[in-house]
Parts: sequence; C-alpha cells; structure tokens
Amino acid sequence: MRIDLTEACRLLKDDVVAIPTETVYGLAASLYDPKAIDKIFLLKGRPRKNPLIVHVASEEEVLNLSLSQPPGYEKLKELWPGPITLILKADTAKIPSLARAGLPTAAFRVPALPLARELIKKTGPLVVPSANLSGTPSSTEPRHVEEDFGKNFPVLDGGTCQKGLESTILSYNDATARWQILRQGAVTPEMLTHVLGYPPEVVIPESGKDPECPGQLFRHYAPKATLTVTADAEIAVGFKERTYTLPVLLLGSLENPEEVAHNLYFVLRELDERGIKRAQIDLDFPTTGLWTTLRERLMKALHKG
Ligand code: TXA
Ligand code: MG
Repeated sequence: MRIDLTEACRLLKDDVVAIPTETVYGLAASLYDPKAIDKIFLLKGRPRKNPLIVHVASEEEVLNLSLSQPPGYEKLKELWPGPITLILKADTAKIPSLARAGLPTAAFRVPALPLARELIKKTGPLVVPSANLSGTPSSTEPRHVEEDFGKNFPVLDGGTCQKGLESTILSYNDATARWQILRQGAVTPEMLTHVLGYPPEVVIPESGKDPECPGQLFRHYAPKATLTVTADAEIAVGFKERTYTLPVLLLGSLENPEEVAHNLYFVLRELDERGIKRAQIDLDFPTTGLWTTLRERLMKALHKG
C-alpha cells in the first residue's frame, strides 16, 4: 500500500514502514521504539544477532549518538549524505541494545535521497535494514516490498532506487590504524582510496570465526532460482554487448556498471516472478570499481551463502 510522507510520519510513531533510499528500500522503525524494532526482526525473519543501521538526517546526529570518531572520520563524513555506513563506538545509553545486537558499536548512515532525509528530519533517527525477507534480494522498488510483505504493507513511495546496491560499510581497525571495508557497496574502493589517501582493505570473513560484520554470517541476495555459470539453464542473465545461446535477461551494458547495479536485484527477482528454476549468470566482467561489488553480490547469490 503506497503512502505519503505525512502518513509515514504518523505510522512511525509506533509502527514499521517501508521507506525508499538512494540504495535500496528499507524497513524503518524509530530508534527509540524497541517494540517496532522487534517487529522488524520478526517481519524480515532476521536473526537477532544481526544489528541494524541507524539512519540520521545529518552528521551532527551521528556525533550525538556515537562516543568517538577515529582518525579519517572527518574525510569519510564528506561522503554523507550518501551510500556509506560507518561503524563507530555507540553511545549505549541512547541506542537500544536490540538495534546494536548487543554490540558496543553501531552502524550510522545519512541517506542521500531527499525524501528519506525529509522524513528522518520529522521522525528523528530510524533503524532501517533492507526491506526484503532475510536472505533474498533487496527491494529496489515499492512492488518488491509488497511482494515480500504483502499488498497492504505501508510503503512510502519514492519510485525506483537510483543506486540499486546497498551502502558500503567501513570500520576502523585499531591494529592497522586504517579504515577497512566490511561490506562492499555502492561507494567503490577507488573512491575510498581517493578520500582516505590509502586503499582500505576488504575484510573477507574467515570461516569458523565470528565475522566483524554479523550480516556476513547469513544467507544473502539469493533468488529461489538456482544460479549457475554453465549453460545448462533456461535463461541467461547477461550483457547487451554479448550473444548467448539461451534467451536472455539483460543486466545492462558492460560499459555501464552503474546501470548494471541499478538493475541487479530487479533482474534476480524477475527470475522468480517468471518461475525460472535455473539461470546462467555471465560473470565475465571487469574486476574494478563497482564491478567488484556486483561480483560479490552475484557470488553470494550463486552459492546461496
Ligand atoms: O544501503 C543500505 O545500507 C540499506 C539501506 C536501507 O539504507 N540498509 C541495509 O541494511 O543494507 P541491512 O540491515 O540489510 O544491512 C546492514 C548490515 C548488516 O550486514 C549488519 O550486520 C551490519 O550492517 N552492521 C550493522 N551494525 C553493525 C555493527 N555495529 N558492526 C558491524 N556490522 C554492523
Ligand atoms: Mg540486507
């Protein structure tokens, strides 16, 4: 059910609403409403060990909710409003334990979409995980949210998400005195290298060890369809410059990773909408910039892990 800003504000007094951001749609609840936050975990089927990102309207609010900001923070905050999330020491008196999954840290982001910031200015800080059932592809348009949570679920309509990929998550590593990437996302490693003056390490979770980004533990981004790299499939998911032996669902152009990012979750969801059981994914694309995030998402979807 599509709702407007006024209705979203009203509902957020004691309930959960889906909202648009420039990355993907999210399920929002007030940071100060543990009951609504609890409902988010239930709705998504999300493990309570997986903390949420606190979304604020301006950077000053981040300073209010965190205890300290490591070196380099001043440079990274220049990317806000935007698709970047920073892990900081949380003011645990202000941020409910449920939102942090009991951690002493919290994730913060100032979204770039004006409609989202306008809403948060009115409601105060919101926790906003992606608006999809845990493990499935994120939602990049209102229809996706309604597919996962039902036709009557309230969705603040912001049209299609511009980026189509989640924010990049960074944390500060005290041992190396450098920021590191916990989740690749819409901001590329090259952009971060430019901002920080060094290339941030991409942390790959070690099997058998607790990952620094709890979300990495769980199944992700996978449609019901089985994805494969071989041609024993009903359909190919690929690029408009190429020819395939199978009918093809296009991600976009090899010249335009932003377009591919914008389309990725739409296409993964489209496979299930069409009842496809097995799809061939073309992974033969560059290894730089946004392509690194795209590969990571597709590999997770491929292995349903
Ligand atoms: O673009 C985005 O970030 C979207 C939109 C809606 O803003 N949100 C999003 O939220 O992707 P979610 O909940 O799907 O992913 C949040 C990730 C999870 O992997 C979680 O483990 C990690 O952030 N996270 C949250 N708090 C953390 C913390 N204190 N330390 C490490 N990782 C944390
Ligand atoms: Mg998510």
